[in-house]
Amino acid sequence: MTTLSFPPDFLWGAATAAYQIEGAWNEDGKGESIWDRFSHTPGKIHNGDTGDMACDHYHRWREDVALMKNLGLKAYRFSIAWTRILPAGRGAVNAAGLKFYSDLVDALLEAGITPYVTLYHWDLPQTLQDEGGWPNRATAEAFAEYAEIVTRALGDRVKNWITLNEPWVSAQIGYREGRHAPGHTDLAESLAASHTLLLAHARALPVIRRNSPGASVGITLNLGPQVPASASFADRREASLADGFVNRWFLDPLTGRGYPLDVAQQLGARLDFVQPGDLEKIAAPIDFLGVNYYTRTIARASIPERENAPQTIFRGAEITDMGWEVYPQGLYNLLGRLHFDYNFPAYYVTENGAAFPDQLDATGQVNDSARTRYIQRHVQMLHKTIQAGIPLQGYFVWSLMDNFEWDKGYSMRFGITYIDYVSQRRILKQSGIEYQQLIRANAVEA
Ligand code: FCB
Repeated sequence: MTTLSFPPDFLWGAATAAYQIEGAWNEDGKGESIWDRFSHTPGKIHNGDTGDMACDHYHRWREDVALMKNLGLKAYRFSIAWTRILPAGRGAVNAAGLKFYSDLVDALLEAGITPYVTLYHWDLPQTLQDEGGWPNRATAEAFAEYAEIVTRALGDRVKNWITLNEPWVSAQIGYREGRHAPGHTDLAESLAASHTLLLAHARALPVIRRNSPGASVGITLNLGPQVPASASFADRREASLADGFVNRWFLDPLTGRGYPLDVAQQLGARLDFVQPGDLEKIAAPIDFLGVNYYTRTIARASIPERENAPQTIFRGAEITDMGWEVYPQGLYNLLGRLHFDYNFPAYYVTENGAAFPDQLDATGQVNDSARTRYIQRHVQMLHKTIQAGIPLQGYFVWSLMDNFEWDKGYSMRFGITYIDYVSQRRILKQSGIEYQQLIRANAVEA
């Protein structure tokens, strides 16, 4: 066995998001978000689950910080619920909301844990949705106002900011596929939403820098290799378009290349929502790219070329509860490609993890060996990435604890901590114990 050691300042972290863990959906002045509305709409979420209570983190955050400290986490990535700060999306500020996050930040710093704050993890204020939501340009202005208030309150202590989490998912799954809030199914809306999201990011950048001197600011994207199912021309073209649609659609405008025209053409998008000056603002430099990586995708053309029938590379691979292939090599390939093609100043893996059907055993423990192995194999790839000279600075496992997995409700368990949703008891899983040891050693076995 070889021991792969990490640089001394490598940041080992865990991630969560407000709606998935907090609960207290209407307490202390919080306004309604699109996820409150969506989860309260019958038929939208598996089993009729809602985030009303979730992990009750809003009341148990002290216990959760203690848990993180015990794990030895160097960093914690969480998101702020816009509707706790501005219950109506803009205008009146809810002091109780700010206090909640301010206290959390103080407790983290006290515990020696660096906060990484995501401003937007999908929970748009319902009032803003009623005015058109993300397809409406005005939402970017409201976001800048929200960023102003949050960073003015926390910017002295929080020095690492992520504007948006996975805008592709907000736009595509929320406005085109309809599986996420607000549940719309309109291509034009989803494309306009993607642009307003990038504008919101751009509008927030200078605000954050002004209110949080010396801060590092980035954006988190869901990215993954799009691999052709065969060497056929049709499959390779499909993979290239899929890469354009999922990866380049955000990466290109963020790096000054504008929207990928091959994708726009294929979608029949006229891009008439782009106004003069937008693309320049969107291309303003960021300090790091946040990468959420779970799996790769196999691209297969719907009309196979007869002379070169698609072959499935996929078969035989280990699959998680989400139906996602376990493919650690993809993380290395992805980070290498990002650095080669886009050359961002730094990278964090802001999410990586796996859902498996965990259960408490007779001794009250959770022996989640598949997740333990998943994390270990991906961490090995981080080492390889750093060895290749790519400025990768940290890793956040998804997730600190089991939580509300959006349309899948509580049926998917991603945590390194098990949540008993009846008692709200937290139980560190085997993967959590192993992660604790990995952090302590600052190394992984290969
Ligand atoms: C990502 C989300 C995160 C979580 C994981 C499993 O797309 O950012 O909230 O749901 O997937």
